[in-house]
Amino acid sequence: MRNVLILNGPNLDRLGTREPEIYGSLTLADIKDSCTAFAQENALSIDFRQTNDESELIRWLHEAADQKLPIIMNPAAFTHYSVAVRDAASMLTAPLIEVHLSNPLAREEFRHTSLVSGIAHGTISGFGPNSYILALQAMLNL
Ligand code: DQA
Repeated sequence: MRNVLILNGPNLDRLGTREPEIYGSLTLADIKDSCTAFAQENALSIDFRQTNDESELIRWLHEAADQKLPIIMNPAAFTHYSVAVRDAASMLTAPLIEVHLSNPLAREEFRHTSLVSGIAHGTISGFGPNSYILALQAMLNL
């Protein structure tokens, strides 16, 4: 069974109460549940993680690089400024799909730059929690 690591960056643990007009009312646990259900239906296994800590996210990317694991990642705010997260993600050899709940390009200008998009296989943004399911669907075909 193919194992996919789903990594989430800072403040995504606050979904449900965090700016619901932008991010909706579902929690990260709800998103994890729908990813788990999709994975079970499609013979995937997922490892779903969240951290507010840049160094922890980098450690997980190193682990994925060593194990050649495919990754779906919502780097959250790290997307826009962390050269360190991008450098760690550059070492991946299996596919990386970047996801966002909102569409950063339709928001403030500082969100228009993604340091991750240029090294990702592709990016899925703006579909709320469904961005994760669309990414899992895309992963099935890579
Ligand atoms: C986000 C978009 C980022 O700009 C923001 O910093 C987040 C969430 C999203 O999923 O829409 O924390 O990655």
